[in-house]
Amino acid sequence: MIKISPSVLACDFASFGNEINKVTSCGAEYVHIDVMDGHFVPNISFGIPVVEAARRITDAVLDVHLMISEPERYVEAFAKAGADIITFHYEATNRPGELASRIRSLGVKAGISVKPATPVSVLEPLLKSVDLILIMTVEPGFGGQKLNESCIEKVREIKKMCDMYSCSPEIEVDGGVTPDNAGVLISAGANVIVAGSAVFKSSDIPGTIKALKGDL
Ligand code: DX5
Ligand code: ZN
Repeated sequence: MIKISPSVLACDFASFGNEINKVTSCGAEYVHIDVMDGHFVPNISFGIPVVEAARRITDAVLDVHLMISEPERYVEAFAKAGADIITFHYEATNRPGELASRIRSLGVKAGISVKPATPVSVLEPLLKSVDLILIMTVEPGFGGQKLNESCIEKVREIKKMCDMYSCSPEIEVDGGVTPDNAGVLISAGANVIVAGSAVFKSSDIPGTIKALKGDL
């Protein structure tokens, strides 16, 4: 099943709760929450209180994407705030396997993400330690960028690697995803589609969510 995870980075923060309810009532299974620290990425977004606020207004899966340095310092706080999935960056920690186990021990699904320049081969030893693999299809830091087509091959590679090891973590893609390119990402092996601008700036949110799933 293909799941859609709208990135709230593109929502109207003056109506945060309504924006979340709008996309979940239109068929989005997950809510993607992009945490940026101004250090791991050159932008600052928001943090723990925003995850807590989202938890108060929805039962949808909160898919928290940590674009922060030293993620090990904050995973407990994000788990306590109500995250269902915590994804950290491979590039942000020296002990990714240990961190994934810690996230799981908090009763939360563990995700790991790679930036466009990081080869998926680094994930080979970690396949059994994670529940989700997030392939960035833009340089992390900003919404509204164009998908980097060279990342599509990485989705194919990670899917092949997972099949080879009989592992089935979710495979998520994030950055510049639109109804026009979602199909090729899904065929490559992605099953969770993050879309910020494409969903929140759409004049037909239910139609866009369906189109992202390939249902139209
Ligand atoms: C980028 C973020 C993305 C971003 C996606 O650093 O991780 O989740 O908000 O936004 P769009 O879909 O607009 O590229
Ligand atoms: Zn993201």
